[in-house]
Amino acid sequence: MSVLQFRCGSCSIVDDVTEKMTQCEYCSLVPLFGCGIQVRDENKKLDFVRHARYELHHNGSQSRKTSRLSLSTCRAEQYSTSAMAVSMCCTYSKLKFLSRHRFMSIPVRQIMKLKDIFNLGSAWRSVLITSEGNNRKRTVLGIETSCDDTGAAIVDSEGHILGEALHSQTSTHNLTGGIVPNVAKELHAKNVEMVVEQALDDAQMRLQDVDALAVTVKPGLIMSLRVGLRHAQKLCQSSGLPLIPIHHMEAHALTARMIDKIEFPFLVLLASGGHCLLAVAKGIDDFELLGSSLDTAPGEAFDKTARELNLFQLPRFEGLSGGVAVERLAREGNPHAYPRIHVMTSVANCNFSFTGLKISARRQILREYQRQGLATHELLPQAADICAWFQFNLLYHIARRLQRAFIFAEMHEICGDKKTLVVSGGVASNSYIRGKLSGLCETYGYRLVCPPAKLCTDNGIMIAWNGMEKLLNGRDFSQDPDGVDVQARSPFGINRSKEVSNSFIKLPRLVMDPL
Ligand code: KG4
Ligand code: ZN
Repeated sequence: MSVLQFRCGSCSIVDDVTEKMTQCEYCSLVPLFGCGIQVRDENKKLDFVRHARYELHHNGSQSRKTSRLSLSTCRAEQYSTSAMAVSMCCTYSKLKFLSRHRFMSIPVRQIMKLKDIFNLGSAWRSVLITSEGNNRKRTVLGIETSCDDTGAAIVDSEGHILGEALHSQTSTHNLTGGIVPNVAKELHAKNVEMVVEQALDDAQMRLQDVDALAVTVKPGLIMSLRVGLRHAQKLCQSSGLPLIPIHHMEAHALTARMIDKIEFPFLVLLASGGHCLLAVAKGIDDFELLGSSLDTAPGEAFDKTARELNLFQLPRFEGLSGGVAVERLAREGNPHAYPRIHVMTSVANCNFSFTGLKISARRQILREYQRQGLATHELLPQAADICAWFQFNLLYHIARRLQRAFIFAEMHEICGDKKTLVVSGGVASNSYIRGKLSGLCETYGYRLVCPPAKLCTDNGIMIAWNGMEKLLNGRDFSQDPDGVDVQARSPFGINRSKEVSNSFIKLPRLVMDPL
């Protein structure tokens, strides 16, 4: 006995296919532009020959066309799967219902073969989709343009990076003293196509070879986000690929799962140029926020301090971010050189504040300029000390908030036995901070996982991987790629920060050697 089934894209009901079916019989909403058919026999072996001919109806346009599809011409041995579905669509919009839930599309190489077999002309697109249990590798192309990096990459379902390309705008923005949104937009517009092509070349793939396109749509600089989204929409239009909209911070949070099979739930700290978020990751799109920065982001404080110190004048720091420059120079400095900076010590929550640190660093820098009798465009001999001192104080503030999160997680049994802390975002590429946090994690029985530095800062890989996780779990496909829009701000999960405050968690002393 074989079962032929159709899964409605609107109500998701799976039903046996009846001949000449043109609508989902349950919700009557979705016309059957193509039938999704699963063929499965009792022994879970494929048998196409027995189901040699089915009529598939295509009424995407006013006039109804009927095409005959011979499944016997698809050779089962080609596919290592226990179940499969075949669908035929004439335009992208019909693809959307196939891409949901457990169904996945196969590479277009195979689609093209089917297209030839069916000989239905260029307007037709046929897609073979497979259900769970199929171990075929899937691929996603990711595009990132939310801030000042234009990134693209292709990753597969096993977390292999097949191709990647990145264009950084850092050196341009270093010259102007910070990101100018209009300049960032122009540079994205100039480079996005090239970066996508480079990533595809690197992977030796064509656009049609990937299964889906993922693109950052929030949060970020609106003009920058728009460039990436528009380009992705254009690619979707020309290829018929589905679009997966990505939340930039969620992508940062889950990048670690690409390299390390970390199970949910885990704690995650995201420290970047625009954010500082401390959260529980419970699922692919399920987060609980324990705390966030009330003002400046840590990366911004690093960048500002580097600029105040004129570090970009030094050839060794040319083209680098402020964070990297401060981290490198800090190795030569004394973290005890100046008095400690106390941040939010009387506020018992997991929120952060970096404005005080930024201002303290600025004051200290100005004081040194005065003391040395130097003009503020010159280089300070004390720059290394200031970097080391600033970096340690920033780290200590983060460590104290983490300490409270560990205790809160313990109180509410959030992390179970496998306690993991993921630290990601640009600032997490700082090896001094990583090293010190690993000591703290050890004390609280946590395993610290930080993605490699190049995956902590913005890149296309993290977007592609987030798209892959969504693809594999049938989430978040855009019904209409052209209807997707960007958002400058976007919440990160359910906010539990008040609950943290209301727990009145007093912290035990934290001794941390700054060296
Ligand atoms: O995640 P990211 O690449 O972009 C945003 O989403 O913001 O983070 C960029 C920020 C910049 O502010 C940069 O100075 C900082 O991350 N950063 C660092 C380091 N590398 C990058 N901060 C401290 N230490 C580093 N090694
Ligand atoms: Zn980022």
